[in-house]
Amino acid sequence: MTPSSPMFILVIDDEEYIRLLIKKELSNNYRNIMTASSAKEGLSLFNKRDFDVILLDIRLPDGDGIELLDHFRSSQPDCEVIIITGHGDIESAVTAMKKGAYDYITKPFSLERLELVVDKAFQRVCLQRENRLLRQSQTPHRQPVLIGKSESIKRIRYLIQKVAPTDAPVLITGESGTGKEVVARLIHSHSLRGDKHLVIKNCGTLQKELMRSELFGYVKGAFTGAVQSQEGLIMLAQGGTLFLDEIGELPIDCQSALLRLLENRTYRRVGEKEERFANVRFIFATNRDLSEEVRVGRFNEALYHRVNVFNICIPPLRERTEDIPLLVEYFLTQFSFSNSTYSLSANIMQYLLNYSWPGNIRELRNVIERAVILAEDGIITDQCLPSEIVERRSLSDSNLRSDSLLPLQTVEKQYILRVLESVSGNKSKAAEILRISRKTLYRKLKEYLL
Ligand SMILES: Nc1ncnc2c1ncn2[C@@H]1O[C@H](COP(=O)(O)OP(=O)(O)OP(=O)(O)O)[C@@H](O)[C@H]1O
Ligand SMILES: [Mg+2]
Repeated sequence: MTPSSPMFILVIDDEEYIRLLIKKELSNNYRNIMTASSAKEGLSLFNKRDFDVILLDIRLPDGDGIELLDHFRSSQPDCEVIIITGHGDIESAVTAMKKGAYDYITKPFSLERLELVVDKAFQRVCLQRENRLLRQSQTPHRQPVLIGKSESIKRIRYLIQKVAPTDAPVLITGESGTGKEVVARLIHSHSLRGDKHLVIKNCGTLQKELMRSELFGYVKGAFTGAVQSQEGLIMLAQGGTLFLDEIGELPIDCQSALLRLLENRTYRRVGEKEERFANVRFIFATNRDLSEEVRVGRFNEALYHRVNVFNICIPPLRERTEDIPLLVEYFLTQFSFSNSTYSLSANIMQYLLNYSWPGNIRELRNVIERAVILAEDGIITDQCLPSEIVERRSLSDSNLRSDSLLPLQTVEKQYILRVLESVSGNKSKAAEILRISRKTLYRKLKEYLL
């Protein structure tokens, strides 16, 4: 094994022969070895520079190896210590292992084994450092981005900016995959609570019987199984925001408990008398029509009015196709491997614009992620797209299905595109077939940003 970075090893042993042997046999281009003959000397070297692996004799003339081990582990936890013991001293070796030594070797040792153990310890050191760096770079709430230039996205940006600094509850509606969570995150991060927690809970996963305890928390002994007190989501979100996703899924019996909380801003943990103040901003989302849910008796009307104070409605992607090119570009850079760039072969954008995107932006994102994987030489061809996007379906079977009825404008745009395609982009011919003037055709193309 040849590690990518050099390794620094400290050998602390009072036997000169051992120090020399290790230094001579283990040193190479990437292993740098320093030696110390006593605890004192070892400590002073350790304090001067960082080591990756320390080979430590347990019995030293001026000190106890175990104590040194404690010191090394607590002051530099990502450095691994390997214990060297005389045989017959297995007990201290075991103690050392319990205190966090990486491994131990007994004298006399085989150089091969020593080499193996040292390199393995170093691998672990590198892995730990990498993980730490990774954790540090993954800031828990990366600022979300809302891509789009359509009027509806511009309006949504405006509404977010207006409502974020207030403490008003917000109801975000829209089909699945339209970006409700993105909007919720943006509201939170632009609010005065932005540096506090955003707690997200999907109401569909709240269990009816446990809902109150999950939301409000409970005290020890409140019910069988409550062996110790636990805080609820409200407490976790204290000072911050609680995003209740899929609010339409909240079981009807739980709705009154939430209503009381929204009205009084106070709640009680299960099994506790004392009322607590909830300093929490609420955001709700649903892809159901809540007013319809109220009408059929599945949603508490009073709660509906409490929840629906400020509504942000995100239209489906098929109603804002002008956002597609920007989103495609955004996802292409997001999914590109290292420095590679990707481009779409002719007519791919057309396919993407024509498709009705029932799964909205999530579906588009997945399609692009897959296309990038399948692309050859950075070119995305129709081979890289799922068949339902590439398949030519007539308007009668794709667009007139009752579950995906399209606005006239979209159908007109799609039809114009289809005609243009059939005449290889010849606009005069297309205008002739469409029985409109060339001027009208140009105007329509401009209007549709084509
Ligand atoms: N305008 C946008 N710009 C960039 N990315 C977006 C946009 N809208 C949505 N996305 C991305 O699309 C995916 C789906 O978005 P999100 O999870 O917010 O949808 P949702 O409406 O909450 O869906 P569901 O109803 O299924 O929970 C996410 O990966 C999100 O980052
Ligand atoms: Mg969501």
